[in-house]
Amino acid sequence: MLREIPWEEAILVASPYPYVLAVTVDKAGKPNAIGLCWWTYVSWSPPMVVIAVGRERYSHECLMYCGEFVLCFPSEEQHKGAWLCGTASGRDRDKLTEGGFSTRPAKVVRPPLIEGATVCLECVVKESHPAGDHDLFIAEVVAIHGDPEKKRHLYSIGYHALTALSHDEVPPLA
Ligand SMILES: Cc1cc2nc3c(=O)[nH]c(=O)nc-3n(C[C@H](O)[C@H](O)[C@H](O)COP(=O)(O)O)c2cc1C
Repeated sequence: MLREIPWEEAILVASPYPYVLAVTVDKAGKPNAIGLCWWTYVSWSPPMVVIAVGRERYSHECLMYCGEFVLCFPSEEQHKGAWLCGTASGRDRDKLTEGGFSTRPAKVVRPPLIEGATVCLECVVKESHPAGDHDLFIAEVVAIHGDPEKKRHLYSIGYHALTALSHDEVPPLA
C-alpha cells in the first residue's frame, strides 16, 4: 500500500535508471567523464537531451567552458570504469585512463566518443537553467553513433550499485 516515504527511499524504490557518461573537455583539452542518471530526451525533432549537473562538479566547470558533451551509454563490460566516473572527480583524477576507456575523436564536437559504448550522442548545449542545487544543460544532438550488436548497458540501483539490461531481453508486458 502507498505510504509517505523519504526522498532517498523513493529514489531507490523507483530504480533502476539508465546510467550514462557525459564526456566533456577541460580548458587544457583533457577529456573527463561524469556518471549521470539525471538526464532525459526532451525533443524528437531536432533530437535534444537535458542533463542535470551539480554546480560543484568538475564537469560543470568543463560544460561552462566547452558547451559541448558526448552522452555515452557504457556497456556491461565497462561497469568498473563507469562506476569510477560517478564516484571520483576529474579535478584530481584522469578517470578515462584509470577506468580503462579508449576514446576516439567525435565527428562534430570536441569531447571524444567512448569506444565500446552501446550508443554515443554528440551534443551541443543550447541553454542552461538553474534547478535547485543542479543546473540543467539542454542540448541538441548533432551526431549519433551506436553499436547495434552491443546492447547490454548500465542502470543504477538507487545510487549505490549498477546492473545491466538490454532492450531485447526484458519481457514486454504491454
Ligand atoms: C548512479 C549515479 C548517478 C549520478 N547521477 C548524477 C547526475 O545525474 N548529476 C550529477 O551532477 N551527478 C551525478 N552523480 C554524481 C557524479 O557522477 C559524481 O559527483 C562525479 O564524481 C562528478 O565527477 P566530476 O567532478 O569529474 O564532474 C551520480 C553518481 C552516481 C554513482
